[in-house]
Amino acid sequence: MTHIAFQSNRDIHTDSYERYHTSVLSIDLNALEHNYRLIKETLAVRADVMAIVKANAYGHGMIESVNCALRAGITQFGVANVNEALYLRSHCPKGAIVVLDANFPEEAEAILMHDLHPFVYSHEMLARINAVAELLGRRASVHIKVDSGMGRIGVQYDQAVEFIIQCRRYFPNIIIKGICTHFAAAESDKAFSQKQWERFYKVIKELESQGIILENYHIANTSASFVLGLPYFNLVRLGILTYGIRPRQTVQIDLAVKPVMRWSTRVIHTKIVEKGLPIGYGGTYITPEKTCIITIPVGYADGYPRSLSNRGIVVVGNKRRLIAGRVAMDHCMVDIGLDMPVSVGDEVVLIGSQNDASITVEELANLAETIPYEITCNAGKRARRIFLQ
Ligand SMILES: Cc1ncc(COP(=O)(O)O)c(C=O)c1O
Repeated sequence: MTHIAFQSNRDIHTDSYERYHTSVLSIDLNALEHNYRLIKETLAVRADVMAIVKANAYGHGMIESVNCALRAGITQFGVANVNEALYLRSHCPKGAIVVLDANFPEEAEAILMHDLHPFVYSHEMLARINAVAELLGRRASVHIKVDSGMGRIGVQYDQAVEFIIQCRRYFPNIIIKGICTHFAAAESDKAFSQKQWERFYKVIKELESQGIILENYHIANTSASFVLGLPYFNLVRLGILTYGIRPRQTVQIDLAVKPVMRWSTRVIHTKIVEKGLPIGYGGTYITPEKTCIITIPVGYADGYPRSLSNRGIVVVGNKRRLIAGRVAMDHCMVDIGLDMPVSVGDEVVLIGSQNDASITVEELANLAETIPYEITCNAGKRARRIFLQ
Protein backbone atom coordinates (compact mmCIF):
# COMPACT_ATOMS: atom_id res chain seq x y z
CA MET A 1 0.00 0.00 0.00
CA THR A 2 1.28 3.48 -0.82
CA HIS A 3 1.01 6.15 1.78
CA ILE A 4 0.58 9.67 0.56
CA ALA A 5 1.52 12.49 2.92
CA PHE A 6 -1.13 15.17 2.76
CA GLN A 7 -0.37 18.72 3.76
CA SER A 8 -2.85 20.62 5.86
CA ASN A 9 -4.42 23.67 4.26
CA ARG A 10 -2.19 25.84 6.37
CA ASP A 11 1.00 24.11 5.13
CA ILE A 12 -0.06 24.36 1.51
CA HIS A 13 -0.56 28.08 1.97
CA THR A 14 2.52 29.06 3.92
CA ASP A 15 5.10 28.48 1.16
CA SER A 16 3.34 30.54 -1.43
CA TYR A 17 1.56 32.99 0.86
CA GLU A 18 3.97 35.84 0.55
CA ARG A 19 4.20 35.79 -3.23
CA TYR A 20 0.89 34.49 -4.50
CA HIS A 21 -1.76 35.61 -2.02
CA THR A 22 -5.10 36.68 -3.46
CA SER A 23 -5.95 39.20 -0.74
CA VAL A 24 -4.25 41.21 2.00
CA LEU A 25 -5.56 41.68 5.52
CA SER A 26 -3.77 44.56 7.16
CA ILE A 27 -3.97 45.33 10.85
CA ASP A 28 -3.14 48.86 11.96
CA LEU A 29 -1.41 48.37 15.31
CA ASN A 30 -1.11 52.13 15.89
CA ALA A 31 -4.89 52.44 15.61
CA LEU A 32 -5.32 49.47 17.94
CA GLU A 33 -3.00 50.91 20.56
CA HIS A 34 -4.75 54.28 20.24
CA ASN A 35 -8.10 52.54 20.88
CA TYR A 36 -6.83 50.68 23.92
CA ARG A 37 -5.37 53.86 25.43
CA LEU A 38 -8.46 55.95 24.68
CA ILE A 39 -10.85 53.38 26.14
CA LYS A 40 -8.70 52.77 29.20
CA GLU A 41 -8.41 56.52 29.89
CA THR A 42 -12.14 57.05 29.34
CA LEU A 43 -13.10 54.40 31.87
CA ALA A 44 -10.15 54.87 34.22
CA VAL A 45 -11.90 56.47 37.16
CA ARG A 46 -14.50 53.74 37.38
CA ALA A 47 -13.20 50.45 36.03
CA ASP A 48 -10.23 48.44 34.88
CA VAL A 49 -10.27 47.03 31.35
CA MET A 50 -9.93 43.36 30.45
CA ALA A 51 -9.10 43.16 26.73
CA ILE A 52 -11.08 40.39 25.06
CA VAL A 53 -8.70 38.76 22.60
CA LYS A 54 -10.42 35.42 22.02
CA ALA A 55 -10.81 34.01 18.52
CA ASN A 56 -7.45 35.44 17.45
CA ALA A 57 -8.55 38.85 18.75
CA TYR A 58 -11.72 38.68 16.64
CA GLY A 59 -9.49 38.02 13.62
CA HIS A 60 -7.02 40.84 14.35
CA GLY A 61 -4.14 38.69 15.66
CA MET A 62 -4.08 37.68 19.31
CA ILE A 63 -0.41 38.11 20.13
CA GLU A 64 -0.04 41.43 18.31
CA SER A 65 -3.21 42.74 19.98
CA VAL A 66 -2.07 41.69 23.44
CA ASN A 67 1.28 43.41 22.92
CA CYS A 68 -0.57 46.62 21.97
CA ALA A 69 -2.80 46.32 25.02
CA LEU A 70 0.20 45.76 27.30
CA ARG A 71 1.82 48.92 25.91
CA ALA A 72 -1.41 50.77 26.70
CA GLY A 73 -1.26 49.54 30.30
CA ILE A 74 -3.89 46.80 30.09
CA THR A 75 -2.88 43.66 31.96
CA GLN A 76 -5.91 41.31 31.86
CA PHE A 77 -6.85 39.31 28.79
CA GLY A 78 -9.94 37.25 28.02
CA VAL A 79 -9.71 34.17 25.80
CA ALA A 80 -12.31 31.56 24.95
CA ASN A 81 -10.71 28.32 26.13
CA VAL A 82 -7.60 26.69 27.57
CA ASN A 83 -6.19 26.04 24.12
CA GLU A 84 -6.20 29.74 23.29
CA ALA A 85 -4.89 30.54 26.76
CA LEU A 86 -1.87 28.25 26.35
CA TYR A 87 -1.11 29.76 22.95
CA LEU A 88 -1.20 33.23 24.48
CA ARG A 89 0.85 32.20 27.52
CA SER A 90 3.55 30.67 25.32
CA HIS A 91 3.99 33.98 23.48
CA CYS A 92 3.26 36.46 26.26
CA PRO A 93 4.48 35.57 29.72
CA LYS A 94 3.03 38.83 31.11
CA GLY A 95 -0.55 39.53 32.13
CA ALA A 96 -3.47 37.66 33.67
CA ILE A 97 -5.18 35.27 31.26
CA VAL A 98 -8.86 34.75 31.97
CA VAL A 99 -10.60 31.79 30.32
CA LEU A 100 -14.12 33.00 29.65
CA ASP A 101 -15.92 29.99 28.34
CA ALA A 102 -16.39 26.35 29.20
CA ASN A 103 -13.56 24.32 30.74
CA PHE A 104 -13.36 20.56 30.90
CA PRO A 105 -12.24 18.91 34.17
CA GLU A 106 -9.16 17.38 32.52
CA GLU A 107 -7.91 20.92 31.83
CA ALA A 108 -7.39 21.62 35.55
CA GLU A 109 -3.71 20.70 35.42
CA ALA A 110 -2.97 23.07 32.54
CA ILE A 111 -4.92 25.80 34.33
CA LEU A 112 -2.71 25.40 37.42
CA MET A 113 0.59 24.89 35.63
CA HIS A 114 0.18 28.03 33.52
CA ASP A 115 -1.59 30.20 36.08
CA LEU A 116 -4.75 30.64 34.00
CA HIS A 117 -7.82 32.20 35.61
CA PRO A 118 -10.90 30.28 34.47
CA PHE A 119 -14.57 31.16 34.81
CA VAL A 120 -15.92 28.43 37.10
CA TYR A 121 -19.56 27.51 37.79
CA SER A 122 -19.73 23.82 38.80
CA HIS A 123 -18.79 21.90 41.92
CA GLU A 124 -17.05 19.28 39.78
CA MET A 125 -14.71 21.85 38.32
CA LEU A 126 -14.04 23.48 41.69
CA ALA A 127 -13.26 20.08 43.22
CA ARG A 128 -10.95 19.12 40.37
CA ILE A 129 -9.04 22.39 40.39
CA ASN A 130 -8.77 22.29 44.18
CA ALA A 131 -7.41 18.73 44.11
CA VAL A 132 -4.83 19.46 41.40
CA ALA A 133 -3.78 22.63 43.25
CA GLU A 134 -3.28 20.59 46.40
CA LEU A 135 -1.14 18.09 44.54
CA LEU A 136 1.00 20.82 42.98
CA GLY A 137 1.24 22.83 46.17
CA ARG A 138 -0.28 25.89 44.50
CA ARG A 139 -3.44 27.97 44.70
CA ALA A 140 -5.70 28.60 41.74
CA SER A 141 -7.35 31.94 40.93
CA VAL A 142 -10.85 31.72 39.45
CA HIS A 143 -13.78 33.96 38.59
CA ILE A 144 -17.23 32.64 39.50
CA LYS A 145 -19.55 32.91 36.50
CA VAL A 146 -23.17 33.67 37.36
CA ASP A 147 -25.96 33.00 34.87
CA SER A 148 -28.24 35.99 35.35
CA GLY A 149 -30.36 35.36 32.26
CA MET A 150 -28.18 34.35 29.32
CA GLY A 151 -29.00 30.66 29.77
CA ARG A 152 -25.52 29.63 28.65
CA ILE A 153 -22.84 28.85 31.24
CA GLY A 154 -22.79 29.93 34.87
CA VAL A 155 -24.21 29.03 38.24
CA GLN A 156 -27.87 30.12 38.43
CA TYR A 157 -28.11 33.57 40.02
CA ASP A 158 -30.35 32.33 42.87
CA GLN A 159 -27.79 29.65 43.81
CA ALA A 160 -24.69 31.83 43.39
CA VAL A 161 -24.30 33.01 47.00
CA GLU A 162 -24.47 29.48 48.40
CA PHE A 163 -22.06 28.29 45.69
CA ILE A 164 -19.50 30.92 46.66
CA ILE A 165 -19.88 30.24 50.37
CA GLN A 166 -19.32 26.52 49.76
CA CYS A 167 -16.35 27.22 47.55
CA ARG A 168 -14.71 29.24 50.32
CA ARG A 169 -15.57 26.61 52.91
CA TYR A 170 -14.56 23.41 51.12
CA PHE A 171 -11.95 24.39 48.55
CA PRO A 172 -9.08 26.12 50.37
CA ASN A 173 -6.73 26.00 47.37
CA ILE A 174 -9.01 28.24 45.33
CA ILE A 175 -8.84 32.02 45.36
CA ILE A 176 -12.02 33.69 44.11
CA LYS A 177 -10.65 36.66 42.15
CA GLY A 178 -14.07 37.91 41.16
CA ILE A 179 -17.62 37.19 40.15
CA CYS A 180 -19.15 38.02 36.83
CA THR A 181 -22.09 37.63 34.54
CA HIS A 182 -22.83 38.41 30.89
CA PHE A 183 -25.71 40.33 29.31
CA ALA A 184 -27.83 38.55 26.73
CA ALA A 185 -28.99 41.70 24.93
CA ALA A 186 -27.08 44.72 26.20
CA GLU A 187 -27.42 46.52 22.87
CA SER A 188 -31.11 45.84 22.29
CA ASP A 189 -33.15 45.08 25.42
CA LYS A 190 -32.77 47.53 28.27
CA ALA A 191 -35.59 46.04 30.38
CA PHE A 192 -34.14 42.52 30.32
CA SER A 193 -30.63 43.85 30.91
CA GLN A 194 -31.91 45.76 33.93
CA LYS A 195 -33.36 42.51 35.27
CA GLN A 196 -30.02 40.73 34.77
CA TRP A 197 -28.20 43.63 36.43
CA GLU A 198 -30.50 43.50 39.46
CA ARG A 199 -30.03 39.75 39.87
CA PHE A 200 -26.27 40.17 39.80
CA TYR A 201 -26.33 43.13 42.18
CA LYS A 202 -28.45 41.12 44.63
CA VAL A 203 -25.77 38.41 44.66
CA ILE A 204 -23.09 41.01 45.40
CA LYS A 205 -25.14 42.58 48.20
CA GLU A 206 -25.92 39.22 49.81
CA LEU A 207 -22.24 38.29 49.71
CA GLU A 208 -21.39 41.62 51.29
CA SER A 209 -23.89 41.02 54.05
CA GLN A 210 -22.02 37.79 54.80
CA GLY A 211 -18.76 39.74 54.91
CA ILE A 212 -17.56 38.50 51.51
CA ILE A 213 -15.93 41.26 49.46
CA LEU A 214 -14.17 40.26 46.24
CA GLU A 215 -11.52 41.97 44.15
CA ASN A 216 -13.41 42.09 40.82
CA TYR A 217 -17.08 42.44 39.88
CA HIS A 218 -17.72 42.39 36.15
CA ILE A 219 -20.77 42.37 33.93
CA ALA A 220 -20.13 44.70 31.01
CA ASN A 221 -19.08 44.18 27.40
CA THR A 222 -18.84 47.04 24.87
CA SER A 223 -22.57 47.76 24.66
CA ALA A 224 -23.06 47.55 28.40
CA SER A 225 -20.12 49.89 29.06
CA PHE A 226 -20.95 52.55 26.49
CA VAL A 227 -24.63 52.27 25.58
CA LEU A 228 -26.75 50.62 28.24
CA GLY A 229 -26.42 53.23 30.95
CA LEU A 230 -26.34 50.85 33.93
CA PRO A 231 -23.47 50.84 36.45
CA TYR A 232 -20.77 48.40 35.43
CA PHE A 233 -18.82 47.74 38.65
CA ASN A 234 -15.01 47.75 38.74
CA LEU A 235 -13.93 45.70 35.70
CA VAL A 236 -15.21 45.67 32.11
CA ARG A 237 -14.56 43.05 29.43
CA LEU A 238 -14.14 44.81 26.10
CA GLY A 239 -13.67 43.35 22.67
CA ILE A 240 -15.36 44.82 19.63
CA LEU A 241 -14.84 48.52 20.44
CA THR A 242 -11.12 48.03 20.99
CA TYR A 243 -10.93 46.98 17.33
CA GLY A 244 -12.58 50.27 16.34
CA ILE A 245 -15.94 48.67 15.58
CA ARG A 246 -19.40 49.30 17.03
CA PRO A 247 -21.41 46.23 18.07
CA ARG A 248 -24.11 47.04 15.48
CA GLN A 249 -24.41 49.60 12.69
CA THR A 250 -27.31 51.19 14.56
CA VAL A 251 -25.42 51.55 17.85
CA GLN A 252 -23.96 55.00 18.43
CA ILE A 253 -20.83 55.27 20.60
CA ASP A 254 -19.32 58.69 20.97
CA LEU A 255 -15.66 57.77 21.24
CA ALA A 256 -12.98 58.48 18.63
CA VAL A 257 -11.82 54.89 18.12
CA LYS A 258 -10.17 54.06 14.80
CA PRO A 259 -10.83 51.03 12.56
CA VAL A 260 -8.01 48.52 12.79
CA MET A 261 -8.71 46.00 10.03
CA ARG A 262 -8.44 46.63 6.28
CA TRP A 263 -9.01 43.87 3.72
CA SER A 264 -8.21 44.26 0.05
CA THR A 265 -7.84 42.18 -3.07
CA ARG A 266 -7.12 42.88 -6.74
CA VAL A 267 -9.03 42.64 -9.99
CA ILE A 268 -8.22 39.38 -11.78
CA HIS A 269 -10.47 39.76 -14.81
CA THR A 270 -12.57 42.41 -16.54
CA LYS A 271 -15.07 42.21 -19.36
CA ILE A 272 -17.52 44.47 -21.13
CA VAL A 273 -20.88 42.76 -21.46
CA GLU A 274 -24.21 43.60 -23.06
CA LYS A 275 -27.48 44.24 -21.26
CA GLY A 276 -29.34 41.10 -20.09
CA LEU A 277 -26.34 38.83 -19.32
CA PRO A 278 -26.77 36.50 -16.30
CA ILE A 279 -23.78 36.65 -13.93
CA GLY A 280 -22.48 33.90 -11.61
CA TYR A 281 -24.00 30.71 -10.17
CA GLY A 282 -27.75 30.56 -10.73
CA GLY A 283 -27.62 33.67 -12.92
CA THR A 284 -29.15 35.73 -10.12
CA TYR A 285 -27.80 39.04 -11.44
CA ILE A 286 -28.82 40.15 -14.91
CA THR A 287 -26.86 43.11 -16.24
CA PRO A 288 -29.33 46.01 -16.39
CA GLU A 289 -27.47 47.62 -19.30
CA LYS A 290 -24.18 47.37 -21.17
CA THR A 291 -21.56 47.40 -18.43
CA CYS A 292 -18.15 46.27 -17.18
CA ILE A 293 -18.08 43.24 -14.91
CA ILE A 294 -14.92 42.62 -12.92
CA THR A 295 -13.98 39.41 -11.15
CA ILE A 296 -12.13 39.36 -7.81
CA PRO A 297 -10.39 36.28 -6.36
CA VAL A 298 -12.18 36.26 -3.00
CA GLY A 299 -15.19 34.19 -2.03
CA TYR A 300 -16.85 32.59 0.93
CA ALA A 301 -13.83 30.32 1.52
CA ASP A 302 -11.90 33.52 2.26
CA GLY A 303 -14.52 34.57 4.81
CA TYR A 304 -16.54 36.86 2.54
CA PRO A 305 -20.12 35.83 3.45
CA ARG A 306 -22.24 34.21 0.76
CA SER A 307 -25.15 36.21 2.10
CA LEU A 308 -23.51 39.25 0.46
CA SER A 309 -24.56 37.87 -2.94
CA ASN A 310 -26.12 40.77 -4.87
CA ARG A 311 -25.79 42.94 -1.73
CA GLY A 312 -22.16 43.39 -0.80
CA ILE A 313 -20.36 46.66 -1.48
CA VAL A 314 -16.69 46.90 -2.40
CA VAL A 315 -14.60 49.95 -3.18
CA VAL A 316 -12.85 50.04 -6.53
CA GLY A 317 -11.56 53.06 -8.43
CA ASN A 318 -12.52 55.18 -5.37
CA LYS A 319 -16.18 54.26 -5.78
CA ARG A 320 -18.54 51.96 -3.91
CA ARG A 321 -19.77 49.18 -6.22
CA LEU A 322 -22.23 46.32 -5.91
CA ILE A 323 -21.41 42.61 -5.83
CA ALA A 324 -23.10 41.17 -8.92
CA GLY A 325 -24.52 37.66 -8.53
CA ARG A 326 -23.74 34.96 -6.01
CA VAL A 327 -20.58 34.99 -3.93
CA ALA A 328 -18.82 31.76 -4.93
CA MET A 329 -16.19 29.80 -2.99
CA ASP A 330 -13.24 31.62 -4.57
CA HIS A 331 -14.70 34.49 -6.58
CA CYS A 332 -17.11 37.38 -6.68
CA MET A 333 -18.11 39.57 -9.58
CA VAL A 334 -18.68 43.32 -9.33
CA ASP A 335 -20.64 45.58 -11.67
CA ILE A 336 -18.54 48.72 -12.12
CA GLY A 337 -20.42 50.36 -14.99
CA LEU A 338 -18.69 51.98 -17.92
CA ASP A 339 -17.66 55.28 -16.41
CA MET A 340 -14.26 54.26 -15.10
CA PRO A 341 -11.49 52.18 -16.57
CA VAL A 342 -10.28 49.38 -14.32
CA SER A 343 -7.45 46.99 -15.12
CA VAL A 344 -6.36 43.60 -13.95
CA GLY A 345 -4.27 44.11 -10.77
CA ASP A 346 -6.13 47.22 -9.57
CA GLU A 347 -6.97 47.26 -5.87
CA VAL A 348 -10.46 46.39 -4.62
CA VAL A 349 -11.25 47.10 -0.97
CA LEU A 350 -13.51 44.64 0.84
CA ILE A 351 -13.22 46.28 4.28
CA GLY A 352 -11.83 49.77 4.78
CA SER A 353 -11.36 52.82 2.64
CA GLN A 354 -9.77 53.88 -0.60
CA ASN A 355 -9.37 57.66 -0.72
CA ASP A 356 -12.82 59.06 0.10
CA ALA A 357 -14.90 55.91 -0.37
CA SER A 358 -15.23 53.23 2.26
CA ILE A 359 -17.08 50.14 3.42
CA THR A 360 -17.08 49.53 7.16
CA VAL A 361 -17.34 46.24 9.02
CA GLU A 362 -20.60 47.44 10.58
CA GLU A 363 -22.18 48.18 7.19
CA LEU A 364 -20.96 44.93 5.68
CA ALA A 365 -22.38 42.98 8.63
CA ASN A 366 -25.69 44.73 8.24
CA LEU A 367 -25.80 43.93 4.52
CA ALA A 368 -24.93 40.30 5.28
CA GLU A 369 -27.59 40.17 8.01
CA THR A 370 -25.03 39.22 10.60
CA ILE A 371 -23.03 41.02 13.28
CA PRO A 372 -19.62 42.72 12.92
CA TYR A 373 -18.02 40.07 15.16
CA GLU A 374 -18.69 37.32 12.62
CA ILE A 375 -17.32 39.39 9.75
CA THR A 376 -13.92 40.04 11.35
CA CYS A 377 -13.55 36.54 12.83
CA ASN A 378 -13.79 35.08 9.32
CA ALA A 379 -12.28 37.81 7.16
CA GLY A 380 -9.16 37.00 5.21
CA LYS A 381 -8.97 33.27 5.89
CA ARG A 382 -6.57 32.88 2.95
CA ALA A 383 -5.17 36.39 3.02
CA ARG A 384 -1.63 37.50 3.57
CA ARG A 385 -1.62 39.24 6.96
CA ILE A 386 0.30 42.46 7.43
CA PHE A 387 0.75 44.26 10.73
CA LEU A 388 1.34 47.98 10.29
CA GLN A 389 3.19 49.87 13.00
C1 LIG B 1 -18.11 36.66 28.31
C2 LIG B 1 -17.79 37.79 27.37
N1 LIG B 1 -17.44 38.97 27.89
C3 LIG B 1 -17.12 40.02 27.09
C4 LIG B 1 -17.16 39.91 25.71
C5 LIG B 1 -16.78 41.11 24.86
O1 LIG B 1 -17.90 41.63 24.19
P1 LIG B 1 -17.73 42.87 23.20
O2 LIG B 1 -16.87 42.40 22.09
O3 LIG B 1 -19.12 43.18 22.77
O4 LIG B 1 -17.11 43.98 23.97
C6 LIG B 1 -17.54 38.71 25.14
C7 LIG B 1 -17.61 38.58 23.68
O5 LIG B 1 -18.26 37.80 23.07
C8 LIG B 1 -17.86 37.61 25.99
O6 LIG B 1 -18.20 36.41 25.49
